[in-house]
Amino acid sequence: VTVFEDGTVELLISKRDLEQRIAELGREIARDLSGDQLPVLISVLKGSALFLADLVRALRIELEVDFMSISSYAAGTAGSGVVRILKDLESDVTSRDVLIVEDIVDTGLTLNYLRRNLSHREVGSLKAVTLLDKAVRRIVPVELEYIGFEIPDVFVVGYGLDFQGIYRNVPEILAVRDIARLANDPNILVEALFGSDGVTPH
Ligand code: PRP
Repeated sequence: VTVFEDGTVELLISKRDLEQRIAELGREIARDLSGDQLPVLISVLKGSALFLADLVRALRIELEVDFMSISSYAAGTAGSGVVRILKDLESDVTSRDVLIVEDIVDTGLTLNYLRRNLSHREVGSLKAVTLLDKAVRRIVPVELEYIGFEIPDVFVVGYGLDFQGIYRNVPEILAVRDIARLANDPNILVEALFGSDGVTPH
């Protein structure tokens, strides 16, 4: 009995649905990003790197990419939306069209922080795209110009999204129905997803 058959995990968004939706987003965003200045797409590490890689190839326009890495402050301020920048942008974003690329928006605290932070840098325009929107979990309202898929309040892995650092390289999005079982044994999906010669359990 695999983790799919016993209900631990189930397919939420297939590879094909991801490809189709990202192609649509690419066409829509390309139309909106045709200003004079070279637009810059900002990916927030690490989860959004996979979505960024596919999105830029669906955008048949001139653009640049840049990366930010942020971390929530530890104990005491969790959930406050106070974050620390671990790696900042390398590009000068002054007067440029900036698009924040996220894999998932959950409470909205991260995107809210990023939008506020970037809006102080005299950008030409500021928009955000997320592949997944878990709107039911929102703590702070946040503007989101483009949404790939609205999803229910379920833990998801794959296509950039991890559980304890693993499963980001699963090509589809899976919903974890039995999170307690996964927490108890984080490698429980490895065999079903990668086979015996896949990722070595550690
Ligand atoms: C995820 C995602 C967003 C954030 C959204 O990153 O990429 O940045 O959480 O959550 P929020 O709306 O509740 O703020 P995560 O912290 O999991 O880091 P990772 O991408 O490096 O795994």
